[in-house]
Amino acid sequence: MEAIKALKSRRSKRKFLPKRVPRKVIKDIIDCGRLAPSAVNIQPVEFIAVTKKKIRKKIAEMTDRGRFIAKAPVCIAVFSRQTKHYLEDGCAASENILLAAHAHGLGACWVAGDKKSYAVKVRQLLGVPRHFKLITLIPLGYSEEDPQPAKRKLKDVLHWEKY
Ligand SMILES: Cc1cc2nc3c(=O)[nH]c(=O)nc-3n(C[C@H](O)[C@H](O)[C@H](O)COP(=O)(O)O)c2cc1C
Repeated sequence: MEAIKALKSRRSKRKFLPKRVPRKVIKDIIDCGRLAPSAVNIQPVEFIAVTKKKIRKKIAEMTDRGRFIAKAPVCIAVFSRQTKHYLEDGCAASENILLAAHAHGLGACWVAGDKKSYAVKVRQLLGVPRHFKLITLIPLGYSEEDPQPAKRKLKDVLHWEKY
């Protein structure tokens, strides 16, 4: 998919078909996450692709607004080592993952990780060392959901030269 089209047509999708996502596709999506910009090029971000239903269910139950993780064939957990810009780096990688998933014809949704009370529990469940912080959980899969277009218009947010 062309880059601008992918950027403009991405929406959060929370309903998934029970169809397996090929490992090659998952790897390519995470490769796009890895290639995100990183402050001072430290690249502190690492990824866990969770495909096992039992683990996805456990993660889903820990969250407040991510119960649909249980029904996605894959959940990518994005972690970042605790550097000065761990959050920015983790968010850049997460956005790349959302866009890459969309470009591969998959639906995905950003589920909050950083600042959430369940972040430590998810980290422990996945056996991640304590110097990493959970940034996002990204369930993804094939989806027939057709969400509403975004509400805000360009004219509402763009200011030329001054506010
Ligand atoms: C920091 C952040 C945290 C989010 N957390 C959740 C979440 O926990 N659960 C969820 O369903 N969506 C979550 N979202 C997705 C937003 O609800 C979604 O991006 C927003 O409604 C705009 O819709 P769109 O992505 O379709 O444009 C989060 C998005 C961001 C940026």
